[in-house]
Amino acid sequence: MSKLRLGVMISGTGTNLQALIDACETADYPAEIVVVISNRPGVMGLERAKKAGIPAICIDHKDYDEREVFEDAIHDALTDHKVQLVCLAGFMRLLTPGFVNRWRDRMINIHPSLLPSYKGLHTHDRAIEDGVRFAGCTIHYVRAEMDNGPILMQAAVPIANNETPDSLAAKIHTYEHRMYPAAVKLIAEGKVRVSANMVVFSDDVEMPAEGLIGPVA
Ligand code: GRF
Repeated sequence: MSKLRLGVMISGTGTNLQALIDACETADYPAEIVVVISNRPGVMGLERAKKAGIPAICIDHKDYDEREVFEDAIHDALTDHKVQLVCLAGFMRLLTPGFVNRWRDRMINIHPSLLPSYKGLHTHDRAIEDGVRFAGCTIHYVRAEMDNGPILMQAAVPIANNETPDSLAAKIHTYEHRMYPAAVKLIAEGKVRVSANMVVFSDDVEMPAEGLIGPVA
């Protein structure tokens, strides 16, 4: 069976990109990365792509006066490479409704919070300041409103005593790196359907039976 063609969009370090590269290199993984696009030049994510032999393109937003023209260039690069699913992995530019709608139900994002809580930036600082017991990360289909859209997968990560934003980010990152390849695999296997504003999984997709309690009780 042919593999699902992924276009990964990044702005920086690209550790989630690396998790996807590693997954795609394993036998029988049902997807392949056909292009990586960064809106910032010289970032480590582009190097990761090149090292893996994947076409790595920089489309620098600073070269464009209008957001729509910048996005047209991205759209063209994605279609040139026959991308079937766009994976936003630390892509730090807001996308216009026009672009988002062109990729509706064919574009997913990873966000470092348990959405719909803590949209936007500095999610870990805000969660710690609020004293919530669990933080986490979410993979969702992209809609025009920022950090919004049908939720595919989430991981809940407890906030420890003396947690710092950095320590929490590090913990959450390990779950991001597990989730992104897993979510893409479900999509590639055809086990995911978007219905209105919800994701529906096929019956053979396993769900956790129980929750987590923190502190442990
Ligand atoms: C991740 O925390 C992701 O959730 C957020 O941006 C960060 C990207 O990290 N959207 P990396 O570049 O994949 O290391």
